[in-house]
Amino acid sequence: MKATAVAPANIAFIKYWGKSDDVLRIPLNDSISMNLSGAQTTTTVEFSPVYTKDSIMLLGGSFSEKETDRVVDSLSRIRESVGVGGFVRVVTQNTFPKGAGAAASASGFAALTVAGFAAAGKSMTEKEQTIFARLGSGSACRSIPDGFVQWQKGNSNDNSYAYSLYPHDYWDLRDILVIVDAGMKKVSTTEGHSGVTTSPLLDARLRQIPDKIARVSHALAHKNFQELGEAIEEESESMHSVMETQIPPLYYRTGATHVIMEAVVAWRNRGIPAYFTIDAGPNVHIICEAKDEDKVVQQVKQLGIGVDIIVNTPAPGAHIVDRHLF
Ligand code: PMV
Repeated sequence: MKATAVAPANIAFIKYWGKSDDVLRIPLNDSISMNLSGAQTTTTVEFSPVYTKDSIMLLGGSFSEKETDRVVDSLSRIRESVGVGGFVRVVTQNTFPKGAGAAASASGFAALTVAGFAAAGKSMTEKEQTIFARLGSGSACRSIPDGFVQWQKGNSNDNSYAYSLYPHDYWDLRDILVIVDAGMKKVSTTEGHSGVTTSPLLDARLRQIPDKIARVSHALAHKNFQELGEAIEEESESMHSVMETQIPPLYYRTGATHVIMEAVVAWRNRGIPAYFTIDAGPNVHIICEAKDEDKVVQQVKQLGIGVDIIVNTPAPGAHIVDRHLF
């Protein structure tokens, strides 16, 4: 009754911001993402009659009470679905800072779902796993399938799920993740999503989504890097415009974030094809092709801003591994 899973974080090319159902975490729009090789969570889950309560531990860090409750809720959903009782021990480890917009909740709930069902002895289809992961954290559903992933918004628990568009070795892209602040973000995404309807820009954003999905899909199908880059940069700006005009406003980007964004545009004007995208935190994901990785990393180092640089390739989705954390 013990299993361990590894799951990647993912960077959203088309973002998920706002839900039509807060409890089921049904999003207002479809989203598209890429799994990240350098930002991963490993989680071991064990069911045992010896345990007298659920215990949840993050190696090298700690969970708040709220976060622990969300993990326990996920475990309870697994117990209920499988029909097992008893308590669970969970030990988890990230290769990157939690809560800094590097999508630790996505990799975390994806790993927990895959390890949890395996430990409970129930085999699930990938689609079912994405649905369960979504209930823990919306974007977690995109960390289960391989490589480049689409989350179909759907309108019910059963038809809001994620699937792979292309495997991780389909296109040798890079996500150069510049960590400018490894601390916790001030406002959780769960809280942030719920204020989305207060932004006067939300309707305009949602009207543009089908066209942006079409552009990103076309760019992926034809490996057209410029088309992809232009669409994802516009999309990131669109989501942050909504966030920053919500009441109360959410400023996830800091001064350092803006310096890097402007630098990426300047590098592009000097012939380095790279584009930025930013999730719910100050850190900047710079997307480029493998051939430009060294140039981009060198430029980032010259800026002298980031506290860390994580070079990501497209990665497989969540999967079971043999090596347990305890
Ligand atoms: O899954 P959540 O509730 O942490 O929301 C993630 C939202 C963004 O990272 C900002 C965008 C996305 O699609 O990943």
